[in-house]
Amino acid sequence: MPNSRIAGSGSYLHEKVLTNKDLEKTLDTSDEWIRERSGIARRHIAADDETTSDMALVAVNRALEAAGRTADDIDLIVVATTTPDKIFPSTACIIQRRLGIRNCPAMDVAAACAGFVYALDVADRFIRTGGASRALVIGAETYSRILNWEDRTTAVLFGDGAGCVVLEATEDEGVISTHVHSDGQFEDLLHVPKGISTGYKPEEAGGYIEMKGNAVFKRAVATLDSMARETLERTGLEASDIDWLVPHQANLRIIAAAAKKFALPMERVVVTVDEHANTSSASIPLALDTAVRDGRIKRGELLLFEAFGAGFTWGSALVRY
Ligand code: ACO
Repeated sequence: MPNSRIAGSGSYLHEKVLTNKDLEKTLDTSDEWIRERSGIARRHIAADDETTSDMALVAVNRALEAAGRTADDIDLIVVATTTPDKIFPSTACIIQRRLGIRNCPAMDVAAACAGFVYALDVADRFIRTGGASRALVIGAETYSRILNWEDRTTAVLFGDGAGCVVLEATEDEGVISTHVHSDGQFEDLLHVPKGISTGYKPEEAGGYIEMKGNAVFKRAVATLDSMARETLERTGLEASDIDWLVPHQANLRIIAAAAKKFALPMERVVVTVDEHANTSSASIPLALDTAVRDGRIKRGELLLFEAFGAGFTWGSALVRY
C-alpha cells in the first residue's frame, strides 16, 4: 500500500490588508486588546468580487508549480471550506472546471477550522487505498462575508485566504498518521446560526458567525492535550522528534499552549496568526507554505499539523515533509 507525500504547496492572500488600527475606527476595540488576547495584528480581506474558488485557484497553481506538476496530473480534488462559492455544485467542482480537468472525484469537506486536516485525512486515505495517485488538498475561506463587522467579539479575529498542497503517492515516508474527531454537542458555542434549511438570509439575524470565545478557548486548549497524546501514542514518536508544529492559527495563546504540551520552543512553531488572523481551513496550508517558501521547513523534517474548530471538530496529522 503506498503512502502519500506533500509534493508542493502554494497559497494566496489578497493584497488588501486590514490592520487593528483600521478596526479601531469602526469598532469599540483597540490594537492593544486584539494583540494581547489573540496575537493578531492584521488580516487580509478578499476583494469585493473575489470568491473562494478565485483565491483557491491561485494557491493551486502555485502548488502545482512547486510540485512540478500540471492540472492534468491530478486525479482527486478535496476542498476544505465552509464559505463555498455556491451552495452547489461544490467549490471543488468549480475549481475542477476552472482547471480544465474532468472525471476525477471532486468534493468539499466542511469541518470549519479543522477542515484542512480533515481534507488531508480524506485524500491520504484515497491514495493509500489506490483510489487516487495525486490530489489537490485545498483550504480556502472568505470569512469576511459571514462576519458581522459591528460585532467586536468576532470581527477582529478572522481573515480570508487560501492554501493548497499537492499530495501524491509514494513508497517513501510522507503522511505518517492522521487523527480526526468531532463532538456535535458544542454546536452553539461557535456557529453561523442559520443555514439553507433554516431560513438563511444574509444580513438578517443568524446570518453571521457567533462565538462564545472564552468557552471555545478553554475547550481548544484542553483538546490540544488529548491530540498531543494521541498522536505520540499511535506513532511511538517522542515530542522531541517533531521539527515543526504547524497549528491552526486562531489565537497565539492557544498556539503557545499547544507548543508547551509538546515541550517545543516557539522557535519551532510556525506562527502566522499575527499577519493572517484566523483564516479557518486555509490557515494550516497558508502557514505551511509560508514556512516552506521562507526556508524554515525543509525536506525530511517532521511536521505536526493540529487544528480545532466549530462542531467541535479537531484533528492532527504527522507528516514527513
Ligand atoms: N475589543 C475590546 N474588548 C473586547 C473585544 C474586542 N474586540 N471583544 C471582546 N471584548 C471584551 C469582552 O466584552 C469582555 O468584556 P467584559 O469582561 O466587560 O465582559 C472582555 O473583552 C473579555 O472577553 P473574553 O471573551 O473573556 O476574552 P478572552 O481572553 O477569552 O479572549 C478571544 C477572547 C480572543 C475570542 C479568545 O477567547 C479566543 O481566542 N477564543 C477561541 C477562538 C477559537 O479558537 N476559535 C476556534 C476556531 S474558529 C472556527 O472554527 C470557525
